[in-house]
Amino acid sequence: MAVTSENRNPLLEIENLQLAFGGVQVLNGIDITVNQGDIFTIIGPNGAGKTSLLNCINMHYQPKGGSIIFDGNKLNGMKPHRVATFGVARTFQKVELFHGMTVLDNIKLGRHFLMKFSILGSFLRLPNIVKDEIQHRSEIEEEIIDFMGLSSFRYSPVGILPFGVRKRVDMARALAMRPKLLLLDEIMSGMAVEEKEDIASYILDVHRDLGVTIIWIEHDLAPVMDLSNRVCVLSFGTKIAEGSPEEVQKHPQVIEAYLGRQK
Ligand SMILES: Nc1ncnc2c1ncn2[C@@H]1O[C@H](COP(=O)(O)OP(=O)(O)OP(=O)(O)O)[C@@H](O)[C@H]1O
Ligand SMILES: [Mg+2]
Repeated sequence: MAVTSENRNPLLEIENLQLAFGGVQVLNGIDITVNQGDIFTIIGPNGAGKTSLLNCINMHYQPKGGSIIFDGNKLNGMKPHRVATFGVARTFQKVELFHGMTVLDNIKLGRHFLMKFSILGSFLRLPNIVKDEIQHRSEIEEEIIDFMGLSSFRYSPVGILPFGVRKRVDMARALAMRPKLLLLDEIMSGMAVEEKEDIASYILDVHRDLGVTIIWIEHDLAPVMDLSNRVCVLSFGTKIAEGSPEEVQKHPQVIEAYLGRQK
């Protein structure tokens, strides 16, 4: 059942976002508000700027204008690892896991990355406090491995796992950072129908049981219409529509720019 976005607080506020590479304007004046508890989908044709938008949210790309406020913190100018410590995690369009390493070690790597910065940033803390934090993070990893149905793959090298399971590992790696906001870039791309249904149920579990707000990019409109409470449509770097899945489906510009083939 889709959630609704009434009466909830904004978690992410993007205003007049501008991104350019050389002379090419990739994002042009994007305004988006994502409320706590949203499953917010970004759709749009290839090259519309969807991945670039996620890359701006975690400051992998530094926007040249506009502002991004997450949970009351302005993210502009921060490094991606700093953004992660505020509770923003992501999966990647092309899986970026270490294929020769086990599921557990891949998930731990994400944690070590975060820990390194939190330890460096708090060098005055006592060693046993840091040790407790490491212990706590290990417990979280074990919980997440269970939660994502990966227990039997814990010691398997990621490279031998089916594609759909690898995507779950990527999601588990992101979840081990205990995010408030999870960014999923085309997590269903290249999946068979059953794998899509499987990952859809994990997305719903993460949303409902872990209370994580989700922004996801997806090309297949059937799961978008099923899972999302809000949909935003990008085309050539601008937002051409936003609303409930039903509203967006009826929008004339969307029909023309994106859904034309399905009329
Ligand atoms: N690092 C970069 N350097 C130069 N141009 C870039 C860079 N990243 C993205 N672009 C350009 O920005 C535009 C938007 O790309 P982006 O990957 O955000 O699109 P997308 O909507 O995610 O497309 P797809 O559906 O194919 O994944 C494209 O023209 C792309 O070539
Ligand atoms: Mg993309």
